[in-house]
Amino acid sequence: MSSTATDFTARIGRIEISATMAINNEATVLRSQGVDLVDFGAGEPHFTTPEHIKQAGIEAIQKNFTKYTPVAGIKDLREAVVGRHKQDFGSNYTFDETIVTTGGKSALFNTFQVLVDHGDEVIIPVPYWVSFKDMVEFCGGKCCFVPTSAVDGFRLTAAMVEKAITPRTRIILLNSPNNPSGAVIAPEDLTAIVKLAAARGIYVMSDECYVYLDYSGRPFSLGSLTEYKNSLLLMGSLSKTYSMTGWRLGFALAPKPVIAQLTKLQSQSTSNPTSIVQKAGLVALTSSQQCVADMRTEYIQLRERIVTGLRAIPDVKCNMPQGAFYAFPDVSAVAARAGISTAELTTRLLREAHVVGVPGEAFGLPGHIRFSYATSAKEIDRGLERVRAFFASL
Ligand SMILES: Cc1ncc(COP(=O)(O)O)c(C=O)c1O
Repeated sequence: MSSTATDFTARIGRIEISATMAINNEATVLRSQGVDLVDFGAGEPHFTTPEHIKQAGIEAIQKNFTKYTPVAGIKDLREAVVGRHKQDFGSNYTFDETIVTTGGKSALFNTFQVLVDHGDEVIIPVPYWVSFKDMVEFCGGKCCFVPTSAVDGFRLTAAMVEKAITPRTRIILLNSPNNPSGAVIAPEDLTAIVKLAAARGIYVMSDECYVYLDYSGRPFSLGSLTEYKNSLLLMGSLSKTYSMTGWRLGFALAPKPVIAQLTKLQSQSTSNPTSIVQKAGLVALTSSQQCVADMRTEYIQLRERIVTGLRAIPDVKCNMPQGAFYAFPDVSAVAARAGISTAELTTRLLREAHVVGVPGEAFGLPGHIRFSYATSAKEIDRGLERVRAFFASL
């Protein structure tokens, strides 16, 4: 008997392939046909992994550190995760309040699996990173979206969050610096949201994967609010901080009972993150952090370049990102002029002008396109010229 769509589970039917992946697939096809693309689509640093981190991975292989490790990760690495966090943010986690995971994505995915049941609600500010919605829906959870707006710098306040709380609210999900908007939530707003959640017995999940790419140079983690530790689920990643996207290493910092459940789930699914990657991660976290500062300095220069260029294009408005590496211009006037949606505009930008971006629709906020500026200044200039010429032609 041949299989049909009805042979699959209800839960897999609830989710869709990530929109960024769909765009990247089309870009890959065009590239294989020899098309010269400017790629503003990628959600990853353009830097290579720093040399000392690569060497640690190579050394781990040469020393045959190639067997299973404890499911939640080697103790040294878990201690390094909490040590780094304590030093940078004044948190007070112990090694058994952390688990290392196969990328930050797996920390997020598994935490939702452990805490969200059918009908439970998760509050998600818009715009949101593409995967949050599908991860919640995979558990049977319900997303309650809280709109924010470019005009207010995508500000999120406790009052906005409070309106979305119901008796079924389980988690408030925050992501600062934000993918796709580059907005940073002010520490006062973050603190007010945590207080509100703690008073109601709701968890705050903080996706801090871009925390070191806060351009203020004063990154803020919710983990510094130590008195609210029992209400916090911190999700971290080495992917963007150390330009290690392909290595797949992330972590969660959470109350011990949550970590115990995450460990149980990891023991029955992926088991430990790759042994040699853990050794590389250990060196990343415990050696000089100069590479992180250097990358941040370059992103700040690239941000100025792309935002200045975008603002010079007629009918394009662009906020100044305060972190991460994405510009999220409002191109609704261009789309309206052409009589098309921003999703169509992005597709035509790819097919006709050969520039890869991701439509705001993927992040719950039509009217925008996300352009990653994790690329060279030369590529930014080439891409901007193409965007300018293409928009002028509409
Ligand atoms: C907001 C956000 N969270 C989490 C992740 C997951 O990163 P990784 O699984 O590579 O650690 C990403 C990756 O793009 C992201 O943008």
